[in-house]
Amino acid sequence: MLSPQWLDELRSRITLSSVIGRTTRLQKAGHEFKACCPFHNEKSPSFTVNDAKGFYHCFGCGAHGDVIRWMTDQRGLAFMDAVKELAAEAGMEVPAPDPRAARQAEQRDTLHDVTRAAQDWFVAQLAGPEGARARDYLATRGFDAHTIQRFGFGYAPEGRQALKNRLSQIPEDKLIEAGLRIAVEEREPYDRFRGRLMLPIEDARGRVIGFGGRILDKTKTDAPKYLNSPDTPLFDKGRTLYNLHRAGPASRQTGRMIVVEGYMDVIALAAAGFAEAVAPLGTALTEHQLGLLWRMVETPILCFDGDAAGQRAAMRAISRALPLLKPAHSLRIVRLPPGLDPDDLIKQQGAPAMAALLDGARPLIDMLWEHERDALPLATPEDKAGLKARLLAHVETITDPDIRSLYRRELLERFSEHAFPRRESAGWRPAAPGRAPRGGDRAGGWRNAAPPPPVDATVRFVQRGAASQRDALAAAVLVGLARFPDRIAACAEALLRSDLPGSRHGALLDALLDAADLAQPLEFEAIGAIFAERGLALPSPADCGNIPYPFLREGADRTRAGECLDAAIGLLVEGPALDAALARATEAADFDFDEQQRLRARRTELENRLKELMRA
Ligand code: UTP
Ligand code: MN
Repeated sequence: MLSPQWLDELRSRITLSSVIGRTTRLQKAGHEFKACCPFHNEKSPSFTVNDAKGFYHCFGCGAHGDVIRWMTDQRGLAFMDAVKELAAEAGMEVPAPDPRAARQAEQRDTLHDVTRAAQDWFVAQLAGPEGARARDYLATRGFDAHTIQRFGFGYAPEGRQALKNRLSQIPEDKLIEAGLRIAVEEREPYDRFRGRLMLPIEDARGRVIGFGGRILDKTKTDAPKYLNSPDTPLFDKGRTLYNLHRAGPASRQTGRMIVVEGYMDVIALAAAGFAEAVAPLGTALTEHQLGLLWRMVETPILCFDGDAAGQRAAMRAISRALPLLKPAHSLRIVRLPPGLDPDDLIKQQGAPAMAALLDGARPLIDMLWEHERDALPLATPEDKAGLKARLLAHVETITDPDIRSLYRRELLERFSEHAFPRRESAGWRPAAPGRAPRGGDRAGGWRNAAPPPPVDATVRFVQRGAASQRDALAAAVLVGLARFPDRIAACAEALLRSDLPGSRHGALLDALLDAADLAQPLEFEAIGAIFAERGLALPSPADCGNIPYPFLREGADRTRAGECLDAAIGLLVEGPALDAALARATEAADFDFDEQQRLRARRTELENRLKELMRA
């Protein structure tokens, strides 16, 4: 009824923190606000309000929403009342309901009554004499009475006119529109669900919008095991997740959301104490469904069968998720033992086995990497090029620029280590993937790091100048700039002209430059928070080649550390340009000895300056 544009305008005219601040004491923290969460009991604040994004979020209980959600969830208003109150405050006029939309809403209301009536009838049938076979079957599934009642199991009896005869007060066209009867040309319409164990499918508000029916008779091999309602004005398969209205609130308690393939798996999980499980309805996860999941938790867990079909389904979900990834939004994946679905697993091995599998859920990037790594042999250069191309093709589908560059970096690193294993791989591993601690810096990491090698390592480092060592210098400079943010502005130009923007550290450089653009004076902590927000982490000491640059350490002499940082930046920015010029001068037809000497001298000067400063 209200257009998304109108609602956006409403949200943008209201400052979220001012609304929340009326009932909750907010404290400014960087460009956010913090508070003790009004949705759950806590002593230290894990509730944040971000006016720029227009969202509140609680890291404790997962409460999350915009200003309208605040009014409905915290103030307990109905949606339209919340909108009206906010519109009055924003000086906006609530558009008069469009008569066509109103009529459609009314039609949906009627259809809800139809599905509700059918659901009540299916439940009664399960309890009645005709339901004996279905009750016997249900008993074999081992669900307790409470579960059977909670999930609304029912039974659709045999016969092509049973439902219609019983719900004779409802016009035939409504039964057809609700997907309960099938219309065929020139013949009497007939009941869609016959002789099946029935499950209601409910929307996010718990209203019945469709059904799934399971066959009882295993001898009927031509009939599908599960039959679902068709898409109707109420039911859109691609926008519905089975059990979302129960799993959503449960996921706030556990911070977890589990996605499985079947209804029965959802129910078996709920019966075993995992209330936060949903399932798509016999199709692969759609973008819309992923969006629904990401509104509940940052990293839903997808469970797939360990067999080949399950693996294909997992890759399909991954491909669909890549373009949609946003900072801090991802997926984790559980591969079940081949041939077992969660229902089987819980029956055979118990709930603790399921819990252990969920705890071991793997990051999306690991699954992507392992799938491509193991897809084909890797014997020849052509094979290796093929693997690299497949990895990069996945990377290209990622729309978020930060995440794209981080995936590129991470996958290419794994590719290199795998395709060309290092002999002396001691110590040099990429920083652990995932988010840096929120708002925290890595000072602890630096303090606890292994003792730095002697200063002479720098000499070797600077002279060898191999690509990974340049990378380490770049990493060190970026950490140094995070520690000396007042120097960022001065060297921004030079850094942008260097090869840093296109390197694997490009995203970090971007984040630093953006941070420097903010008006307020910057602290190392604030920069840590900005990185964390983008899902970036500061390079580790190992990323920086374990070289004890003074500008990496807390509490080093600031003047000397600053000079040393400038020298490192000089070498980083000028080094490659000098090397290229040197190569040109050496190879040129009219070989210019003087020019070559000049370039060499300049390079040595830069290196020596850094070395001297480090020795001082
Ligand atoms: P499965 O065949 O794995 O069924 O299909 P299941 O959930 O394990 O069911 P049980 O344990 O045999 O009773 C997984 C899901 O795929 C859809 C259903 O949503 C089902 O829950 N499906 C399956 C269909 O829509 N139609 C079918 O014929 C089969
Ligand atoms: Mn099953």
